[in-house]
Amino acid sequence: MPLIRECIVSTLNPAGEPHLAPLGLIEEGERWIIAPFRPSTTLRNLELSSRATASFIDDAEIFAGFVTGKRDWPTVSLPQWPVPRLEPALAHAELEVERVEDDEQRPRFYCIVRRIETHRPFLGMNRARAAVLEAAVLATRLNMLPRQKIDSEIAYLKIAIEKTAGPSEKAAWERLMARINAHRTESGG
Ligand SMILES: Cc1cc2nc3c(=O)[nH]c(=O)nc-3n(C[C@H](O)[C@H](O)[C@H](O)COP(=O)(O)O)c2cc1C
Repeated sequence: MPLIRECIVSTLNPAGEPHLAPLGLIEEGERWIIAPFRPSTTLRNLELSSRATASFIDDAEIFAGFVTGKRDWPTVSLPQWPVPRLEPALAHAELEVERVEDDEQRPRFYCIVRRIETHRPFLGMNRARAAVLEAAVLATRLNMLPRQKIDSEIAYLKIAIEKTAGPSEKAAWERLMARINAHRTESGG
């Protein structure tokens, strides 16, 4: 399996406005692949403009926010690139689509990495942030997973939250749990 870098991908809509979404960039040699499932705004934008910016973040609240409806995070324009980055990014990469492998479910946009720039220091891995990231992915798959699987994943991830979260990671976790608990109630239990 290739390395996947979880990040926030920005693209431009037909009006030239930025659209942001959490996505995993698949590393393949020197190319990074953006693979959005159909239908998706990111996919449509990439087909139109062939450029994206990947923002690498360590803020768990941003991943949690995106999957629970908070998408209005601040962006910053870039001097030599048309697609803005996320303001809180530790680093960003400017990506240009070189070729597309079409697919009915999940096309793959092979990108050349034009430039990588660092904005803030990365101050180490954290288990609670990783747990929030896992729970955010889980929150996008609630309708595909059996109840028991959701419950057991949450029980495991909660350990890292209890042992290693700061206030921001706790807030991100609570936000995700509200969403996941609402789904549990809706789906009967
Ligand atoms: C950490 C993380 C990684 C994700 N990676 C992908 C991905 O690689 N492909 C994808 O289609 N959706 C992925 N998703 C879900 C998308 O963010 C979600 O479908 C989003 O709405 C993108 O669609 P949009 O471009 O229409 O906004 C991911 C979500 C999270 C939280």
